[in-house]
Amino acid sequence: MEIQLKLDGTTRSFTMQRDGTAVLDAALSHDIDAPYSCKGGICSTCRAKVVEGEVEMISNHALEDYEVRAGYVLSCQCLPLSEKVVISYDE
Ligand code: FES
Repeated sequence: MEIQLKLDGTTRSFTMQRDGTAVLDAALSHDIDAPYSCKGGICSTCRAKVVEGEVEMISNHALEDYEVRAGYVLSCQCLPLSEKVVISYDE
């Protein structure tokens, strides 16, 4: 699956497997400086917006319903579902 991450005005791309790895962990393993703190779905430091594609959130103790409806996710809890996912930390 192809992941594109927009962060601080730049876009980084990488591929990852559908193996239960969260998007945040995959990004960190590609040396992308994505923001995080708790990695447990609580702090919302890793909040980002899905611009394209589909993801599934394993757990969410931080985002309000209206944020989820608007496409925001906790990237530490986010598993990609579609072949291409574009996520922005800049929105
Ligand atoms: S790092 Fe805290 S909710 Fe994702």
